[in-house]
Amino acid sequence: MRQAGRYLPEYRKVREGIAFFDFCRDVERAVEVSLQPLDLVGTEAVIFFSDIFVPIPAMGVEVDFAPGPVIAAPIRSRGQVDALTNPDPRESVPFVFEILRRLRSELEGRSVPLLGFAGAPFTLAAYLVEGAGSRNFSALKTAMHREEAMLRALLDHLAEGVIAYARAQIEAGAQAFQLFDTWAGLLSREEYAIWIQPQHRRVAEALADSGVPTILYVGNGAHVVDCMADTGFDVISLDWRVDLGRAARKFGDRVSLQGNLDPGTLAASPETIRARVGELREAGRSARGHILNLGHGCLPETPVEGVRAFTDAVRSLQE
Ligand code: CP3
Repeated sequence: MRQAGRYLPEYRKVREGIAFFDFCRDVERAVEVSLQPLDLVGTEAVIFFSDIFVPIPAMGVEVDFAPGPVIAAPIRSRGQVDALTNPDPRESVPFVFEILRRLRSELEGRSVPLLGFAGAPFTLAAYLVEGAGSRNFSALKTAMHREEAMLRALLDHLAEGVIAYARAQIEAGAQAFQLFDTWAGLLSREEYAIWIQPQHRRVAEALADSGVPTILYVGNGAHVVDCMADTGFDVISLDWRVDLGRAARKFGDRVSLQGNLDPGTLAASPETIRARVGELREAGRSARGHILNLGHGCLPETPVEGVRAFTDAVRSLQE
């Protein structure tokens, strides 16, 4: 969960004087910051440095970062959806696959897995319709009720793009694939089942023969954990609002779990962090598998020593 980033002085140094999208396209720098968390905070996997919006401009949408994604012309009409394209990502964003190939060769012999990722159709659509991040995404919710066909067509288009993008990442060396649906928890259970779950199933089904484990993250999704477990993803990644022990008992025979320490806890003392990690480990025990992780990404103000205390605690529990 957001391993690289503004909480690391070493990241901020490489990030200096370059626009975010240019940074994502700069293979040397992207490889460097992807590897930083491994050595600086002791993670046990590497997620390639990029953003869920990197493949979007090639679909015909102008995106900027300020610091979150901003869409120049929010998508509100069927005509705008019909004008979107889905070029082969290997041609439209070749640097992504170059970054993955470089990382695989850097990691050779270190037995550290490399993760690929993409934004889920709903979360991408949330920004594309709204135009930027938002507290309640009211333009998106309006579209759900007044522009249903437009939104459906947009989600379908994005799902196709996500599947091609995931496949190309796996071909370039990604050894697991995580789908981020940060905003899916905005919907009620009923609406989630209609708008979101079918898209998750579609992605899981398309990647079922890919040979790599698939991970589904939903933010603020404590009310839909059963729906997440019923999509075909191998691992469900939960935020801190979910009772991990309960999820493990109810769904742990069907799916593995990932999570779910509140990143805010990383401001606590090493002893508190260690105690929380111990509790999470116990809670996850009854699941067929559990990846100890945060429940969302590190924030810019996250203390580096807190992140280190987390990875140290996890490692000491493995011994
Ligand atoms: O963890 C990693 O190091 C991998 C890289 C990664 C980034 N973004 C880098 C990034 C990943 C996996 C993402 C995913 C992402 N991006 C999501 C889904 C997961 C989540 O965090 O909920 C979403 C919703 C985005 C969209 C996005 N990108 C936002 C809202 C922002 C700005 C606010 C913020 O949280 O920092 C970004 C910018 C961004 N993406 C940064 C990084 C390191 C900060 C950019 C900077 O240096 O200015």
